Amino acid sequence: MINDLWYKNAVIYCLSVATYMDANGDGSGDFQGLMRRLDYLQGLGVTAIWLMPFQPSPCKDDGYDVADYYGVNPQYGTLGDFVEFTHGCKQRGLRVLIDLVVNHTSNEHPWFQAARRDPQSKYRNWYVWSKKKPKNAASGVVFPGVQKSTWDYDEVAKAYYFHRFYDFQPDLNTSNPEVQAEILKIMGFWLQLGVSGFRMDAVPFVISQKGANVTKAEEQYDMLRTFSQFLTWREGEAIILAEANVLPGTDMKYFGSAGERLQMMFNFEVNQHLFYALATSDSRPLVKAMRLTKSRPATAQWGQFLRNHDELDLGRLEPKQRKAVFSKFAPDPDMQLYQRGIRRRLAPTLQGDRRRLELAYSLMMTLPGTPVIRYGDEIGMGDNLALPERNCARTPMQWSTEPQAGFTKSDHPVLPVISDGPYGFQHVNVADQRRDPNSLLNWMERIVRMRKEVPEIGWGDFSFISVGTPEVLVMQYSWRNNSVLCIHNLSGEPREIRFALQAEEMPCILANLLSNDHSQPDSSGRHSILLEPYGYRWFRVCGLDYLLKRAEI
Ligand code: GLC
Repeated sequence: MINDLWYKNAVIYCLSVATYMDANGDGSGDFQGLMRRLDYLQGLGVTAIWLMPFQPSPCKDDGYDVADYYGVNPQYGTLGDFVEFTHGCKQRGLRVLIDLVVNHTSNEHPWFQAARRDPQSKYRNWYVWSKKKPKNAASGVVFPGVQKSTWDYDEVAKAYYFHRFYDFQPDLNTSNPEVQAEILKIMGFWLQLGVSGFRMDAVPFVISQKGANVTKAEEQYDMLRTFSQFLTWREGEAIILAEANVLPGTDMKYFGSAGERLQMMFNFEVNQHLFYALATSDSRPLVKAMRLTKSRPATAQWGQFLRNHDELDLGRLEPKQRKAVFSKFAPDPDMQLYQRGIRRRLAPTLQGDRRRLELAYSLMMTLPGTPVIRYGDEIGMGDNLALPERNCARTPMQWSTEPQAGFTKSDHPVLPVISDGPYGFQHVNVADQRRDPNSLLNWMERIVRMRKEVPEIGWGDFSFISVGTPEVLVMQYSWRNNSVLCIHNLSGEPREIRFALQAEEMPCILANLLSNDHSQPDSSGRHSILLEPYGYRWFRVCGLDYLLKRAEI
């Protein structure tokens, strides 16, 4: 296959316009501000931006409650600004993915307003109603502890409406062909304005059957093929990156056995087991998770991530495993959320320990797939647990030591800037780290650059080399006659490992990609590597002339 599917070897950066940079001084980030930071993003080396929802919205769920799919929230600018933004990205070779939140709308959306007022309205059937409160109304809530029911009574409609998420987010009746046609229209609109695809919100719920009489909801996978076909007809390079926290095995249904459905999905299975590995130094469940999610169509790709804007969902771990992660990373109940997750940012989760932050990022970057970085994590930003639910990890970007971290000129930012403690902007900010060659930011820039030069990870096939200690994970990627080894010591103790490569690769030097510490084989062809606590290595097998040996196909 020709290796020109951009998302197979991309580095994605996710950010929210609201908290990135405020150019007009009203306290809220905006597209003008974001545009001024595109050179920063280009310098960091990321190749695509995933933009969280920015459409008009009452913002009761950080914009995931959309009130108009065809506009820009005036706080962030205008459609004109948006086009300037996608143009600015294009000039710098950055692709743009935007959130597509079509499982539900805001209850303030004119469609819902029309639907509740008039049973004859064509929009009535765009939502999911029931005369009586369904028996299972208390089951299937997504935000336990905050949300009580999935059906609520609407006084105006005089009926119950279905909402998988918060009560102000009525579910769209996605089985309705009119709703499906509208979803395509929304995608077509934004494609025309320069985006390269969509991070599709809550995909399992979008395709699930909905209704008071549905007892065992089935997924309507064909819908995914319709979306995908439409995208490629309109814009060949466009993709869907799905938020679908589903069981391994089911993921093939989302990709489609011939890759005819979704191009990308976040790998939640690996994400949770990765945190388990970081918490316990045991790589075995992570290896299992990687094996379980290994097979996928050649055109499909995993999105690998550490943290995102939501809680770190540990729902797929065994109860004992989950307990181990909670006790290590979120011992205080206030650090936990929805009975299943951790709401902290990465740096405080790892006690601000630079060695572990590098280990975590190095590991994430070398997992099979395309890495997705959360804004602020490149400088090790912290969280503000005084803010409710997931807002604690959504505070404004910390640019400098200037007032409000250089995010805004206003004294009233949308969310408070972190301004005290070790993660305060006085200590953690871009400007300072820019000037320090040893900062996390500069480390991140170098690792991103290197990751892009190792397409074996995005394109190749992986296997594990067993070294007899579960604390050390050794992965090997092979692609087009080239091969790379990625080694991670999950333990806080030094570990020495010995191993031999495949017969055809022996005896052969391992060229270190990140430092000058190469490894020569002994006379029997074995390598012996001493890893420092939380140490990691990226090696090219058989030297640095690999590009002279890369096969054409
Ligand atoms: C997704 C989003 C989350 C949002 C929810 C409802 O899970 O990631 O932030 O609250 O959908 O739209």
